[in-house]
Amino acid sequence: MMEKKVVLAYSGGLDTSVILKWLINKDYNVVAFIGDVGQKEDLNLAKEKALECGASKVYIEDLKKDFIENFIFTAIKASALYEGKYLLGTALTRSLIAKKQVEIAKKEGTNILAHGCTGKGNDQVRFELTWMKFLSEVEIISPWKEKEWLAQFKGRIDLIKYAKKEGIPISATLEKSYSVDENLMHISYESGILEDPSKEPSQEMFKFTLSPKKAPNKETKICIEFEKGIPVKLVNLSKNKEVKGSLELFEYLNKLGSENAIGRIDIVENRFVGIKSRGIYETPAATILFKAHQDLESITLDKEVMHLKELISPTISKIIYNGFWFSPEMEFLMAAINKSQENVSGKVYITLYKGNTIITGRESENSLYNQAISSMDKEGGYNQISAKGFIEITGLRFKLQGITNEVMAKEMQTK
Ligand SMILES: Nc1ncnc2c1ncn2[C@@H]1O[C@H](COP(=O)(O)OP(=O)(O)O)[C@@H](O)[C@H]1O
Ligand SMILES: [Mg+2]
Repeated sequence: MMEKKVVLAYSGGLDTSVILKWLINKDYNVVAFIGDVGQKEDLNLAKEKALECGASKVYIEDLKKDFIENFIFTAIKASALYEGKYLLGTALTRSLIAKKQVEIAKKEGTNILAHGCTGKGNDQVRFELTWMKFLSEVEIISPWKEKEWLAQFKGRIDLIKYAKKEGIPISATLEKSYSVDENLMHISYESGILEDPSKEPSQEMFKFTLSPKKAPNKETKICIEFEKGIPVKLVNLSKNKEVKGSLELFEYLNKLGSENAIGRIDIVENRFVGIKSRGIYETPAATILFKAHQDLESITLDKEVMHLKELISPTISKIIYNGFWFSPEMEFLMAAINKSQENVSGKVYITLYKGNTIITGRESENSLYNQAISSMDKEGGYNQISAKGFIEITGLRFKLQGITNEVMAKEMQTK
C-alpha cells in the first residue's frame, strides 16, 4: 500500500502537536512545516518537539522577507485596513504560509495537507482557499472540522490529557488565559478571558509595545522615504541613524514604534463566518507606515484617483481578511493600486510620541501640490473671477429646484 504522507502546518503549540501525533497514530507519515514569520519563539525547539512527536521530517522556512516585501508592503500600498481598524497582520501570514506549504507538499510528492485551525475562525478559510488555488487535487485534513476528532477532543483538557498519555512535551505558555499569535508585523490576542468585550485586559498582556504611560517623555523624530509606494529608507532624525533594506527598515521601525507605544488597538471585528470576535492587536511599524504612506498620497495622487482608491481599499481589506489573497479579484484590484503608486515617491516627516504618530511634513519630486496656486496670499495663475462661473453652473440645479418649489407653493396658495 502507498504510504500516506501529509504536510502539516505546525506551529509548535499544543493543538498542532496533538494533531501531529494523532495523524501518526492513524498511520500517516507526517512532515511538519514551520513558517518563520518573525515570531519570537525558538523554532529549533519547535522542530525538536515535532521530531519527538514523530514527524519524519521538519521544514523551517524563513518567510520574513517574503512577508514584508510581498505581503505587508502590498497591503500598505493598498491602504488595507479591515473595518477601518485592523491592519491584517494575521491574515497576511496565513496566505503566505499556506502557499509555502503547497510548495513543500509538491517537493514531498503528496497532495495531503493539514492545519490545526478551528472551524469557527478565518484561518481555516485562508489556508484552504490558498491550497485549492495552488494544488487543485488537494486532500484536506482539518481535524477541528472532523467528527472523529471532535468526538475525541472537546477542548483543551482533552488535548492535554492526550499529550500526557502520548508523552508530548507541554510548554509553559499553556497557562495563558487567552490565545496569542505573533509575527514580525503584530501580536494578536483573543479568546479566553478576552471574550468579554467590556473587560479591559491587563497591561501585563502587551508584549510588543510599551504603554503610553511608560513611553519616553521625549519625541522621536523620523523620516520615511517611499519609492512607488514602498518604504525604502528610514532616518531617525533624533539620532542621525539611517536604515535601508526591507527587513532592517521594518525591524528598526518596530523598535521605534514599540518604544513609543504605537499601534495598540482593541476591537470587535466581524469574522468571515459571521461571528463577532474581540481582538487586541499591537502593530507598531505597520501603523506608522500606513499613516506615512497615506499622507504621501495626499500630495502625489490625483484627486479622483485618490477618491477611487478610497473606494476600493475597503474591498481589498475584505478580500485579504477573508483569505482571498490569491484570487482574480485581488489581482484585478492590485493592478489598479500598483498603477496608482507610480508617483507615490517622496519623504514623510513624523514625530512619534506616547502612542501618537504625528505627521509633521511631506515632500516629493512628483508632488501635485502647487504652493503658488494653493496660496491664499498669491494669485499664482489661478483666475479667481472664473470661480464665479464655476459655482454658478455647479449651483444651477439648486436654483432650478428653488424655482420649482416656489411655483408649487404659489399654486397651493391659489387653490
Ligand atoms: N508559523 C507557522 N507555521 C506553520 N503553520 C502555522 C504557523 N502558525 C500557525 N500555523 C497553522 O495555523 C493554524 C492556526 O494558527 P493559530 O490559531 O495561531 O494556532 P496555534 O495555537 O497552533 O498557533 C495552526 O493550527 C497551524 O496549523
Ligand atoms: Mg499561533
